[in-house]
Amino acid sequence: MDALFITFEGVEGAGKTTLARWLSERLRQEGIPNWLTYEPWEPRLREVLLEHSDLRREEELLLFLADRAIHTRHIRVALAEGKTVICDRYADSTLVYQGYARGLDIDWVRQMNQFATGGLQPVRTYLLDVPVEIGLTRQRERNRIGAEEIAFHERVRAGFLAEAQREPQRFLVLDGTRPLPDLRELVWADVSRLRSSSVSVPSQNGACAESSSGKGAV
Ligand code: TYD
Repeated sequence: MDALFITFEGVEGAGKTTLARWLSERLRQEGIPNWLTYEPWEPRLREVLLEHSDLRREEELLLFLADRAIHTRHIRVALAEGKTVICDRYADSTLVYQGYARGLDIDWVRQMNQFATGGLQPVRTYLLDVPVEIGLTRQRERNRIGAEEIAFHERVRAGFLAEAQREPQRFLVLDGTRPLPDLRELVWADVSRLRSSSVSVPSQNGACAESSSGKGAV
C-alpha cells in the first residue's frame, strides 16, 4: 500500500487540528505508519511568522515559502519511507492568506508555491468550512494573524471555497459545524477509500487522486 499525502485546511478555529490529530491516531491504531505535521514548520521561521507583527505581506510570503521548501523535503522523505503524511495547513494556506486575503497576485502565489514544493501536492485536502465568527469564537488564543478583523477571515474562507471549486478532485469540503463524530466518520470513510484505490503516491508534478469528491460540503 502506498503512502498518502493528506492536508487539512480551513479558517482559524475550524477544527482541522483536532481532526488531523484524530486521523493520525486512528491510522496508528490500524498499524499504518504516519507522520502528523503542520505549517509553519521550522521552529525559528514559525516564531518569526507568528510572533512578529511588523512583517510586510511580501516578507511574510517569502518566509512561508522558505518554510514550505524545507518542510516539503522532509515530507518527501517520509512518503518515500511509506509513511502517510498528514499536514495541518500547506500550500493552500499561502494561496488563500497571502493571495486572496492579503491581496498578493493569486496566480503569482500559485507559481511561487509550485517553486517551493517542486510540485508536490496532497492527494486529498480536507477543507473544514465554518462561518468565520464561529471559528474565531472557538479559538482560545489568538496569534498575530488570528487577531485580524472579520473581513480578512471572510476573504480567507471565500478563498478556500474558491480553491475547492477549482480542484474538486483534490478537495473534500466538510461542514465544520457538524458534530465531531460525524466528521471523523466522513474522513475515515474517505481515507479508507483512498487507501484502497491504486494510485496514491504524489508525483513530482502534482497530485494523483482518482476520486471525485469535493462538490459541496458534507
Ligand atoms: P497556527 O497557530 O498554526 O494557527 P491555526 O491553528 O489556525 O492553523 O498559525 C498559523 C497561522 O499562519 C494562521 O493564521 C494561518 C497563517 N498562515 C498563512 O498566513 N500562510 C501560510 O502559508 C500558512 C501555512 C499559515
